[in-house]
Amino acid sequence: MESSRIRFGIIGCATIARKVSRAILLSSNATISAVASRSLANAQHFLSANGLPASVRAHGSYEAMVDDASVDAVYVPLPTGLHVRWAVAAAERGKHVLLEKPAAACLSDLDRILEACRSNGVQFMDGSMWLHHPRTERMKEILAAHDFGPLKMIHCSSTFSATPNFLQNNIRVKHDLDSLRALGDLGWYCVGAILWAVDDQLPDTVTALPSLHLNQSGVILACAAAFHWTDHDMIATFHCSFLSNFSMDLSVHGTNASLQVKDLAIPYQESSATFDFTCGAKFADLHIGWSRKPEEVVVQTDLPQEALMIEEFSRIVGNIKNSNCRPDSKWPEVTRKTQMMVDAVKSSIELGFTPVDL
Ligand SMILES: *[C@@H]1O[C@H](CO)[C@@H](O)[C@H](O)[C@H]1NC(C)=O
Ligand SMILES: *[C@@H]1O[C@H](CO)[C@@H](O)[C@H](O)[C@H]1NC(C)=O
Ligand SMILES: *[C@@H]1O[C@H](CO)[C@@H](O)[C@H](O)[C@H]1NC(C)=O
Ligand SMILES: *[C@@H]1O[C@H](CO)[C@@H](O)[C@H](O)[C@H]1NC(C)=O
Repeated sequence: MESSRIRFGIIGCATIARKVSRAILLSSNATISAVASRSLANAQHFLSANGLPASVRAHGSYEAMVDDASVDAVYVPLPTGLHVRWAVAAAERGKHVLLEKPAAACLSDLDRILEACRSNGVQFMDGSMWLHHPRTERMKEILAAHDFGPLKMIHCSSTFSATPNFLQNNIRVKHDLDSLRALGDLGWYCVGAILWAVDDQLPDTVTALPSLHLNQSGVILACAAAFHWTDHDMIATFHCSFLSNFSMDLSVHGTNASLQVKDLAIPYQESSATFDFTCGAKFADLHIGWSRKPEEVVVQTDLPQEALMIEEFSRIVGNIKNSNCRPDSKWPEVTRKTQMMVDAVKSSIELGFTPVDL
């Protein structure tokens, strides 16, 4: 039913807004009501460049968007440094908030956003799209199965080789706009994936590793860290970098099995994604091979993960709007824990790679 669709406003015309506007159009229960940029011409250009329907309004300021009464929810792909101001403004005007990652520059900023959402009864979710891919759910079933055994070691990497121009000028390396740089842009995925694998249980200690690359102005271009869960004697490591070729790997090892995915945050292909899984492998007789090779598990999806994210967000918003349900606390809690771990990595770096307790 057209009238039951959740009406989105997009605040900011960043590159990723193109992907998410397509996702909103693909979804079954959301629609784009308006797009805002700092100038009307920019917003109008975004509408025509992306072939958006004539019914979508263009706003020449972010204020105009948060004041737009015909918008139920905002998608905010603005630079991280602007998140508090515009997410809080939207929540205070009763708009649900889908916020691009990294959610905030630090936990206290994030808490201002979450508190504004809570006190205004609106839903919060961050833009970690991969969490909504059916592959993610399938991997979780396997991790939770008895045969996998308790988890012991997790590793995640997210890297790409940035051009000199990106390193100099991109918003993600500008101090004032995104103070977390590679840690926020890429490390957010790694930390989120590790947290996901352990059912959102925070580690006891966080230790940054001394393979840190800063540019001459002190901007993080690459970093790595280790997490430790004392009770389970389990560790996780991650590496994020603007300085090495593409990787988006996640490996999870249990006492009896391993799972590996190579394209976690953005699958190689839209309609089908895979991961490798080995359970109960041993060395063959004489140790001249393994008893079994990893099995490739294939998971199909009718909709891309970003459209599934929009549908899940819209489903919750629909329940709040039409059935007086409370916002779903799971999504803000996941974001908050991810931010806590990212903040702890940053603290450990600042303290000269010493362990930080959580
Ligand atoms: C380091 O990054 C900052 C932020 O983008 C940039 O302004 C600066 O020019 C960079 N410094 C060097 C030496 O590359
Ligand atoms: C990354 O690796 C690919 C394939 O090996 C190569 O074609 C590409 O040039 C590399 N990218 C950079 C920026 O070096
Ligand atoms: C390890 O995995 C194999 C293959 O699934 C299974 O037969 C075996 O029972 C598992 N062992 C444990 C201790 O879970
Ligand atoms: C949105 O779509 C999902 C998946 O089709 C569905 O479960 C949900 O009920 C829909 N929500 C609304 C508000 O239409």
